[in-house]
This record gives sequence, C-alpha cells and structure tokens, in this order.
Amino acid sequence: MKANTNRSGRLTFDRVVDDYDTGRPDLPAPLVADIVRSIALPAGSRVLEVGAATGQLTRALRAARMRVVALEPGQHLRHRLAERFGADDGIDILPDFFEEYAGAEGSFGAVWSANAFHWVDPAVSYRKAAELMEPAGHLVLIWAYPILTRDLQLRLNETALANNPNSAWDPDTYEDYINGVTAAGREELAGCGCFEAARHWWMTEPLSFDVDTYIAFLTSYGHNAALDETGRQQLASDVRAALAGLGADRLEGTNHIYTCVARARTA
Ligand SMILES: C[S@@+](CC[C@H](N)C(=O)[O-])C[C@H]1O[C@@H](n2cnc3c(N)ncnc32)[C@H](O)[C@@H]1O
Repeated sequence: MKANTNRSGRLTFDRVVDDYDTGRPDLPAPLVADIVRSIALPAGSRVLEVGAATGQLTRALRAARMRVVALEPGQHLRHRLAERFGADDGIDILPDFFEEYAGAEGSFGAVWSANAFHWVDPAVSYRKAAELMEPAGHLVLIWAYPILTRDLQLRLNETALANNPNSAWDPDTYEDYINGVTAAGREELAGCGCFEAARHWWMTEPLSFDVDTYIAFLTSYGHNAALDETGRQQLASDVRAALAGLGADRLEGTNHIYTCVARARTA
C-alpha cells in the first residue's frame, strides 16, 4: 500500500487501545511461518517490526521463533504490548517512530510491518529499511483488507454506515480497490531502487464477529478512532440498531491478506 500523504493521524490508534486489541484480528501464524521459511530466516533471527500496536503480527513472529525488536510509538498501545509479552525475553519494545529509530540494536535479518508501513514517510521508509538489514535481508509488508459478506455489508452501508463513507466498503468494487492500492504501493517500493523485484500474493481467511467485537473492529480504524467519544458512541449505537433490525447477532466476512516481500539489493 502506498504511503499516506497526510500522516497526522498516525497516532489515532493509541486513543482506542481496548478496541484495537479486541477488534483487530491477529495475522495468521501459518502465513508468517511460511514467509520465515521462504526467506530462510533461521530460528533466533533478529527482526525489526514497525508499528506493532498490541501484537497482531508480533505473536506470529514470536511463534516462528524470531527475536523481535518492536517499534510502537503510541504509549498506550506500547504499554499494552508490554503487558501482553511481559515475561517474554525474545522481544524488545521501543517507543520510536521508524523515521527516528537510531538502529542501536544492530542489523536485522528482515524488517516486517503489518498494516503500518503506509504511516511512515516514504522518503525515509524503504531506504532506511534496506540500510538496517543484514546483506540481502528482506522487507516484508503485510496489509489486511477485511469486508463483510456482500448482503450484510450492503445493508450496513445503507443504514449505520450511511454517513461513514470510510467504513462503508463497497463489496462490488472492493477487490479492484485493494488491487489498485497495493499495486500503487509496489510502484512506490520499486521507485526506491533499494530492493530487487518484489513478489506478492494474496490469501483469504474467514472472519466471524459478534456484535461487540465488530464495533471494536470498526472503531479501531483511524477515521473512527479519530472521532470524539460522542461520535464513537453514536457509531456503536447505529450499528447495534441496524443489526438488531436485521436480526443479526453474528457478522461473517472475509479478510483479504496481502503480502509483499522484497530482498534488499546488495551493492
Ligand atoms: C494500523 S496500526 C497496525 C498495527 C498492527 N501491526 C496490526 O497489524 O494491526 C499502525 C501502527 O503503526 C504505528 N505507527 C504509526 N506511525 C508509525 C511510524 N512512523 N513508525 C512506527 N510505527 C508507527 C501506530 O502507532 C500503530 O500502532
């Protein structure tokens, strides 16, 4: 995904830690284990994770036996991350924005980021990632694009989300949309000139939310996290009312997960 041109909302997630922790699905451990294998990272390799939030990717990296240096500039998210990984000495949690990270931990077998790299300044992000890596290390970028089943998403778009265009994803154009934004991201990555040609692929996994978890999931998105408390309460009550009207107490959907892996060029 291409970097955001306006990065003023990069810390909004820190306002909704409970919702983020409850609502956002973890990245699938088998996907992460496959990537680790495919880029030949031995157990115990040190990797850098950019934008860890409360550990949605970190858990799978630890399960794949990576030693993780996790950057999380949001202080509430970072404290929750520290609570989650309290006794785990395979993770170091740092408060830095990636742009400002000094690299004191040495070089990394890979730099990973899930749903976060578009918040980093692209004038810095790709080159710095390449510079922080061991020779021929890899940049692994993952984004998840969830959407509800077509009918349910359309019904919510017409009701609770009618005034919330950023959450009212159109199921009929969604795949074109996510193919477009991820292709633009690959172009941006290629423009840096620091990496060999990237490979990318998609996987899907089923989603199933109860009503509270779906509301937490919606709130965890930046545009909703940025609302004031009244706005968030209004969104929650609109969603509850719409789902009650539909008689829906579970929401099913599909998570479209995009992975892009690029090896740093060696001089
Ligand atoms: C949408 S969340 C993604 C969190 C998690 N990795 C996931 O997959 O759900 C983006 C995260 O990136 C962090 N972030 C934003 N700008 C950043 C930057 N410049 N450097 C490092 N982290 C950043 C935010 O604090 C937030 O935790």
